[in-house]
Amino acid sequence: MRHIKFIVPALVLLLVLSAFVWQRPKQIQYNPDPIEKRVDSLLALMTLEEKIGQMTLYTTDWGSTGPTIREGYTEDIRKGRCGALFNSHTVQFTRELQRIAVEETRLKIPLMFGYDVIHGYKTIFPIPLGEAASWDMEAIEKSARIAAAEAAAAGLHWTFAPMVDVSRDPRWGRVMEGAGEDTWLGCRIAEARVRGFQGKGIGNTDAVLACVKHFAAYGAPIGGREYNTVDMSERYFREYYLPPYAAAVKAGAATVMTSFNDYDGVPASGNRYLLTDILRKELGFRGFVVTDYTSMNEMVTHGVVVNEKEAGELSLHAGVDMDMQGAIYQRFLGQSVKDGKASVAEIDESVRRILRLKFALGLFENPYKFCDEAREKRVVFSAENRDAARDVARKSVVLLKNDKNALPLAKSANIAVIGPLADNKADLIGNWSGAGDGNACVSLLEGIKKVCLGEVTFTEGCEVEGTTRGGFLRAIENAKKADVIVVAIGEKAMMSGEAAARAEIGLPGVQEEMVKGLAALGKPVVVVLMNGRPLAIPDLDKRATAIVEAWWLGTETGNALADILFGDYNPSGKLPMTFPQSVGQVPIFYNEKNTGRPFDPNSKWTGKYIDMPNAPLYPFGYGLSYTTFEYSDPKPNKTAFKKGEPIRISVTVRNSGKRAGEEVAQLYVRDLVGSVTRPVRELKGFRKIMLNPGEAKTVEFILNDEDLSFYRRDMSFGSEPGDFEIMVGGNSMDTKKVRVTVL
Ligand code: NOJ
Repeated sequence: MRHIKFIVPALVLLLVLSAFVWQRPKQIQYNPDPIEKRVDSLLALMTLEEKIGQMTLYTTDWGSTGPTIREGYTEDIRKGRCGALFNSHTVQFTRELQRIAVEETRLKIPLMFGYDVIHGYKTIFPIPLGEAASWDMEAIEKSARIAAAEAAAAGLHWTFAPMVDVSRDPRWGRVMEGAGEDTWLGCRIAEARVRGFQGKGIGNTDAVLACVKHFAAYGAPIGGREYNTVDMSERYFREYYLPPYAAAVKAGAATVMTSFNDYDGVPASGNRYLLTDILRKELGFRGFVVTDYTSMNEMVTHGVVVNEKEAGELSLHAGVDMDMQGAIYQRFLGQSVKDGKASVAEIDESVRRILRLKFALGLFENPYKFCDEAREKRVVFSAENRDAARDVARKSVVLLKNDKNALPLAKSANIAVIGPLADNKADLIGNWSGAGDGNACVSLLEGIKKVCLGEVTFTEGCEVEGTTRGGFLRAIENAKKADVIVVAIGEKAMMSGEAAARAEIGLPGVQEEMVKGLAALGKPVVVVLMNGRPLAIPDLDKRATAIVEAWWLGTETGNALADILFGDYNPSGKLPMTFPQSVGQVPIFYNEKNTGRPFDPNSKWTGKYIDMPNAPLYPFGYGLSYTTFEYSDPKPNKTAFKKGEPIRISVTVRNSGKRAGEEVAQLYVRDLVGSVTRPVRELKGFRKIMLNPGEAKTVEFILNDEDLSFYRRDMSFGSEPGDFEIMVGGNSMDTKKVRVTVL
């Protein structure tokens, strides 16, 4: 029994340990989220000024994406008056600012760095509208994934993307940043982009926080004019504009940005109905809300508050957690608390939301986690990323016209390359191109020269804008000597994007006139369009032999286009937005209502223009291939369904041409009679399928109750019994249909 003095304490220790082991699950159950505890303990140490600092976001002087109203941000960091910065990137740059935050401030709270990584950080992918034309969710997710990996390797934690604003108005310059006009497609793309940006989870060093923007309804400014008023019914908002934001939130988007516009008379940055009632309570959003650039300040100009202090109070009460570049929270919120106009509880809640994400990013463990030069060098602009960009670029191209099979071109052809965008690099990366370098782009001319074995000449012919016709003659001379003319025309990158609304959406300058001259030669004229929005180009459509919609394809433009032009890649893109014949038809979109007097060519008293057809130039979902596809009639698994029972529709698609190609089979639904009027067709599914010549595949679509649901007369969301038309085809205007009944 000599060892008793050891045995007893050992037994006691064992007991304690087993109690601990036994208690652990209980503790975990009690406090499921250790971050919560850490946030609370940090919050308890913070002064009001430090809390407000966390709610403040400033731009650095690295880049400007709006009016610069502030300098000296390093002093703000030092004083704990600013918790996040944007327009700051690269490991070297962010490391130094982070050092100030974690070494020189009282509480050493790390900074968070944001940037507009919209379609690539340095390896630039097609503009989002272009990517949407791929109808390829894997490709879109991959593009966001690579953008995130590059951004995170360059010191960034947060991107201001995806923009999920539905828009039916091509005058609005920001259509280039979105997924086009359709709600359902917009939802799928919003989810894919969030998944791509946030990767396997926040805190991984190849992921960044997503920021869904611009909440809400920013895509519907009156007249398409940037920053203009938005006015729409609640039904319209909920049905067409809200779902992509909801989808992005459901996919786990960490942050949301407010929009510049007012909604139902209240600017979004002060709109409690939007930011709290809908976003938090209905959609269950748990992250933080940041304003758009100085939009809090602009509420004074909107005329809903008398001064900036009141603007801050309105925003705080509405649910805005972070003030982007407005410096309103920083300057006035302390006073508002003293005046009893803002509560510390509200502020605490906002700070909690922000700190939670800083903890989730892992910045408290290692504030330099995203500052690794070796990773930055390895990941940013890697050959692998460029290959991926080339692939997504090819997938984004839409073949709008191809008379006499002018395309693909023979590699032996002698080609006259003409146009202001053919030898251009700077514009190819498009607007909102992050840290992209135009000089590193492959131009169309370079791409063609790499592949073409015949003679390739080049002349600009004219500028994108302006009226100089001096180059026409040389263009004609070159064209005369060639077998085929390839003309690269369109818009400059800065003609779309923010603050780039256009009232006329034809081709600017004398570009179209130049094509007219070239077409008169009687040779095949292949037009490559580079633009950030649908254009109204009915004359060009008549004159050109072939038209390739190339949007802004990014870093790999020339290579991707050469793949398409010479047939190494068969185009499969489909328009995510309607191309009108004239700006006078705008807003124009495929999912319109029938009205009481739908268009009838034989009756004057029907809904139409007297000077122009109703039909668009190219409808939503449209895009050709170098092969052709035939659709069978869609076949439902039965004709009558109980409410909620899945409706299975199968259709056989056959490649009736001579080349292998991909087709996007699209399914549209029409509810023939509802308690409120319903659109004549709505996209509810699609399948992208690859088919060899002569090959046929049967695809199946499943429609659930939600696919038939809408906001009924009493604003409840659900389906109604009755007859539905199901349409399947290769674009929104060319479909075969079948009718089913829901009992
Ligand atoms: C204003 C734009 O509307 C928004 O989309 C962007 O993220 C911010 N500026 C920051 O650059």
